[in-house]
Amino acid sequence: MLRAAVPEDVGPVGALAACMGCETAAADAVRLSLEGGAVRVTVSDEGGVNGFAVWSLVLDEAEIQYIAVSPECRRRGIASRLIDEIAARASVIFLEVREGNAPARALYKSCGFAEAGVRRAYYSDGENAVIMRKEINRGADTRH
Ligand SMILES: CC(C)(COP(=O)(O)OP(=O)(O)OC[C@H]1O[C@@H](n2cnc3c(N)ncnc32)[C@H](O)[C@@H]1OP(=O)(O)O)[C@@H](O)C(=O)NCCC(=O)NCCS
Repeated sequence: MLRAAVPEDVGPVGALAACMGCETAAADAVRLSLEGGAVRVTVSDEGGVNGFAVWSLVLDEAEIQYIAVSPECRRRGIASRLIDEIAARASVIFLEVREGNAPARALYKSCGFAEAGVRRAYYSDGENAVIMRKEINRGADTRH
């Protein structure tokens, strides 16, 4: 089940974010999302939080800041479903991913993202960031 984060998710989301070294930022994002601003946190909950996405939405433009799935639950489509949930609310999604993060780049490619550029030495350790973009085409507008 996917749902918006609630206050009880601060700890579990922070723990899951440890694999990316951003436990504090992710936990803070949950707190911020509860204030109803642009920052949102969607969690995957299957008897416990096993995945989450931190994203923001301004008008119809979304940006994914973090997405992670617990190691024992990977390759079951959870991250793909989190991205689908975001895509249902946006017409374009942007994100940055470490150039060397092959699993994440494969995920984004499989979800229809295309590479839109590179930010050289973007991360503090000097690694490049690849900018990725996904356009959501909902087909012909049938409204009159
Ligand atoms: C990247 C990550 C979020 C993927 O989550 P996931 O739930 O396992 O992804 P999905 O099951 O939805 O994968 C969908 C597709 O993406 C690709 N993919 C995902 N992980 C992959 C991997 N390790 N190697 C190769 N392809 C991969 C595959 O095409 C996969 O489809 P398939 O399983 O049918 O082959 C997860 O590996 C993770 O949490 N990594 C650590 C955190 C991270 O790096 N986050 C991204 C940066 S913010």
